[in-house]
Amino acid sequence: MNILVVHGPNLHLLGRREPRLYGRTTLEQLNRLLKTRAAALRVKVRCFQKNCEGAIIDLLTAHSAWADALIINPAAYTHYSYAIRDAIAALALPAVEVHLTDISRREPFRKVSVIRPVCAARFKGEGPASYLKALEYCAKRLK
Ligand code: DQA
Repeated sequence: MNILVVHGPNLHLLGRREPRLYGRTTLEQLNRLLKTRAAALRVKVRCFQKNCEGAIIDLLTAHSAWADALIINPAAYTHYSYAIRDAIAALALPAVEVHLTDISRREPFRKVSVIRPVCAARFKGEGPASYLKALEYCAKRLK
């Protein structure tokens, strides 16, 4: 099974971005954790980070033939990007939404996810473990 992992805007700053909220794990460390767990689960992952909406959509298109599932943290786009929502719907790939923080317990604008309706599941509020749970979900439930 091939799993595409997409990190949205500002997640390249993980480790030094508001560590009280997002923790001290860097994006590189997070991707390494994902690759190690993927190997244990006998699945393949490709991890990418993009800051721009169009770049995320292009990435989804470019890897759609390779991927069997998508794990995406759309970051701030979660709350308003109908373009990313439509791109996920167009892919017809099982998708899982991930957040490091618990967006349902933060500012009102973060409680809304326009991405959720096009995803099979969502894992949030557990830092890097949210991603690892999403990976396990894909490996075990979507096979
Ligand atoms: C986030 C939550 C979003 O509201 C925020 O814009 C992010 C990160 C998270 O992982 O908790 O950039 O998606």
